[in-house]
Amino acid sequence: MSEETKKKINQRYQQELQKGERFWPDSIFKDAIMALAIFIILILLATFIGVPFEPKADPSDTSYVPRPEWYFLFLFKFLALYGQIPLIGKIEWVATVIIPSIAVGLLVVLPFIDKKPTRHYGKRVLPISIMGIMVVSMVTLTMLADVPTGASLVGTLQKIGGLVIPSLAYLTLVLMAFVFKKTSARTMMWTAGISAILMVGFTGSVLALYQAPAAAETMVVNTLEEQIQAGQDLYAINCVECHGEDGKVVKITGVKALEGKEIMAINGKDVLYTLNDAALAEVIIYGRPVAGMNPFGKAYNTQGLSKSEVDYTVTFMRYMWDDRFEKPQLKPLYPPLAAGEIPSYEAHIAPIVKRYCISCHRAGKNNLSYLMDSYDNILKTGDDAPNVTSGDANSPLLIVVQGTPIPDPGNPGTTLVNSMPPNKALKPDIIDVFTRWIMAGMPNSAADAAALPTATPKP
Ligand code: HEC
Ligand code: HEC
Repeated sequence: MSEETKKKINQRYQQELQKGERFWPDSIFKDAIMALAIFIILILLATFIGVPFEPKADPSDTSYVPRPEWYFLFLFKFLALYGQIPLIGKIEWVATVIIPSIAVGLLVVLPFIDKKPTRHYGKRVLPISIMGIMVVSMVTLTMLADVPTGASLVGTLQKIGGLVIPSLAYLTLVLMAFVFKKTSARTMMWTAGISAILMVGFTGSVLALYQAPAAAETMVVNTLEEQIQAGQDLYAINCVECHGEDGKVVKITGVKALEGKEIMAINGKDVLYTLNDAALAEVIIYGRPVAGMNPFGKAYNTQGLSKSEVDYTVTFMRYMWDDRFEKPQLKPLYPPLAAGEIPSYEAHIAPIVKRYCISCHRAGKNNLSYLMDSYDNILKTGDDAPNVTSGDANSPLLIVVQGTPIPDPGNPGTTLVNSMPPNKALKPDIIDVFTRWIMAGMPNSAADAAALPTATPKP
């Protein structure tokens, strides 16, 4: 740039500076244009990309873990770290109300305190340093939001980087500005800069040291058969409750809030020919919240399915139900029983229960507190426990699996327990396994079953 142009530019700059700019209407006009542009971008984003709704709020769902939006995560983390401070950590309103109010209040009164006309940062070290540390704090706390705060090394590093250093920095800067008034602007800048670097350093080391618990993706699945099998297990736990073991249910039974709701069978052409794999996966991930099917995607449901689990479920539905696909040969649900052979919980009952009952008979579901997730629970839980009694053909479980409801003694004409599973009769061979198991005394392991006197004598 020639000296000539430099001079010109400088001259123009000085002129403009002299003229000044009015807040109203000049600045306001610019701001309004900018706000309008951002507004239009938001409208376009919402129209063409959008964010899926979360499922409708369910007041009876105690498993929902609320998380703030990402732009509030720093406050959330600040509160978590603050809560760890001895004594004052217990006084929550200091962190939730007082400190944020002071911060916002400072922003409001800033124009009244800081009235210097100059814009050069060298002349406004204190506000800029404090604001700088605040911004770095917000960024680092947001980054740490997913790391648990505990009495570990990672926890201690977080407390130092997230609370101690910024507090010391604010204190030092304020002392320098108001008590040791001779401190040079440069020293203050250095203080703020070094604090910021330390905060970033501590955050970085926390993120490097912290190992997130491995996502529950423990399944090692290779062949198509294994994928279908895995999908069948996932379907049994998550979907049988409403759609039944074979997807044929057209009227939901036994599910609170959806009792009697008519739905379409999901194992036929209507669904499988109209939805391709990606669309089926989307139904599972986003659910049909309005109809009552909650989303299963990990992002919307902390206990939900990972991407590959969703894919296995889709593979299962496709190969088992879509008549355009050849049904694969899967291993039998339980080892076949010889005549007179006694089934055991481990080899026979557990897989049957997992396929046909566990979807409803686990914690948090509508089931008269009858949990079927372990041997002991099958024997002992239930409002009308015991549901199985050794050698008793009238055990409630046996009655209901045979398709007979149990009447309510207190309310003649009504049923206490429906036939089970409520949405679908069991096949006779499965009822037979339950019967043989209970009549023989409910052996747990295969070894227990073999040791029972009534077992088939070994040839
Ligand atoms: C709490 C009950 C419930 C559970 C659990 C449930 N669904 Fe649904 N599902 C529904 C309802 C209700 C509908 C809506 C049916 C309708 O509109 O006819 C539905 C619809 C569907 C549809 C058809 C979507 C369409 O619009 O064509 C598919 C496919 C489906 N579910 C698959 C699954 C799978 C796979 C699972 C397990 C991961 C599952 N559902 C779990 C209740 C449930
Ligand atoms: C669709 C959900 C669902 C499925 C699947 C299901 N149940 Fe149930 N079960 C219930 C509900 C709901 C109750 C509570 C009584 C009622 O509403 O009929 C119940 C109650 C029972 C009871 C009575 C518990 C007590 O203490 O009174 C037994 C026994 C039982 N179920 C056995 C089974 C067995 C065995 C299977 C699998 C073969 C099964 N259930 C599958 C929903 C289900």
